[in-house]
Amino acid sequence: IVLTEDPSLPPAVRIKLNNKSIELGDQTKKGTRVKVYGRILNVRAQKNATFIDLKDGYGTLQCVLPAGNLTKTYDALLFAQETALVLHGEMKQVPPAQKAPDNRELHVDYYKVLGAAPSDLDAISNKVSRQSDPWNVEMLDNRHLVLRGENASAVMKLREAVELAFVDTYRDMDFHKVSPPAMVQTQVEGGSTLFKYDYYGEEAYLTQSSQLYLETVIQSLGNVYAIEKSFRAEKSLTRRHLSEFTHVEAEMDFIEFEDLLEHLEEIISRIVDRVLADPRSAEYVKLLNPGFQKPTRPFMRMKYADAIDWLNQQEPPILNEEGNPHAFGDDIAEAAERRMTDIINRPIFLTHFPVEIKAFYMKKDPNDLRVTESVDVLMPGVGEIVGGSMRMEGYEELIEAYKKNGIGHEPYYWYTDLRKFGTSPHGGYGLGLERFLAWIANRHTVREACLYPRFMGRCKP
Ligand code: 4AD
Repeated sequence: IVLTEDPSLPPAVRIKLNNKSIELGDQTKKGTRVKVYGRILNVRAQKNATFIDLKDGYGTLQCVLPAGNLTKTYDALLFAQETALVLHGEMKQVPPAQKAPDNRELHVDYYKVLGAAPSDLDAISNKVSRQSDPWNVEMLDNRHLVLRGENASAVMKLREAVELAFVDTYRDMDFHKVSPPAMVQTQVEGGSTLFKYDYYGEEAYLTQSSQLYLETVIQSLGNVYAIEKSFRAEKSLTRRHLSEFTHVEAEMDFIEFEDLLEHLEEIISRIVDRVLADPRSAEYVKLLNPGFQKPTRPFMRMKYADAIDWLNQQEPPILNEEGNPHAFGDDIAEAAERRMTDIINRPIFLTHFPVEIKAFYMKKDPNDLRVTESVDVLMPGVGEIVGGSMRMEGYEELIEAYKKNGIGHEPYYWYTDLRKFGTSPHGGYGLGLERFLAWIANRHTVREACLYPRFMGRCKP
């Protein structure tokens, strides 16, 4: 059977599936005749009709093909998940006692398959089985197909909404956006996670953070931010480490440490408000993380030294990586940090980390020179999502800090110069977009918040 379109029918109006302004028909009135392009999400052949749930990236629509010529074509026999097609028909209300998205369905009178999909062993449902561990090799290799799924695509749409919420919120707060380079010759967060490469015969790196560059423009642009990729040659395969991640970074001039903390609380709250205020992004949060609740303010604040005591006071104590009680100066490793965040179960501003375990540029606390004016923001389920600090202001002090950290100061001349040409109390932070998403969308790992995650051992597809 070859289908032809009945020329006596009214012309079909092309719509996207999220268009809800289409006039629906019922027994007494005709609905609008439309044309929809999409792919098959599900197909159910029943005695009287074949039902196709169609998706087009904007929405879903139930399409009804009455049994007869429409269901007897060769194409119809091979309908499979992901088959691409265009369907024409009349939009109607769903009969009472039946259910379909938006309470409407398309009564199809003509269709054309544009791209078939396999319905045999190669069918998408066999390649990306819903039962299997979402992060086994097969699922990772088939990420391009996994992204066809409802949850994976909802995370991507939520990611876009969060990124735009940052752009809009920074605009409201009068921050300027800049775009620092990704190819650099200086480190920011330690040599052990630098990706090195050959740059026309010179040693160069993929940037770990745009921070140093942001610091060079607050003098002329005022408060600034960047949303760029950062790269870390992390040698650990954890739930929250990527080799390539999206870094939301901001730098503020003429502030005190307290201003930095207040700003962080404000921006996190505003982003959550914005995401929940938009019905589309709110829907993705509801789908992915139905129990999500906006954190209450003020956020808890805890000094590093108090966190060490807290870990040791638990029953049984939460030990460090060597299996000993925590001591001042220890890194609070991922496992301990996660335990703490999950037990406390609310956002924590962890502040005043010891000088020795933090980056070279951090300003010391004038009241206690053992520690820095630094903050990590920890979220339940994820742990650290933000790292920030006040920056060293003095020229000599900075030169000393390079030395202490075994960094040659020459390549940093442009950064050091900031301390020579009108230095100022300033500070900023970096927020991992994927970690923020893992928190708000309750994902098991940050990998789910990436289109194509990059981590140790994986650089494809
Ligand atoms: O704490 P980090 O290393 O701080 C900096 O890079 C500062 N220079 C930022 C600044 O002050 N402008 O990283 C900041 C945040 C972390 O809290 C985390 O959310 C994210 O960046 N991040 C990573 N996310 C995924 N994978 C990794 N390997 C990450 N490393 C850092």
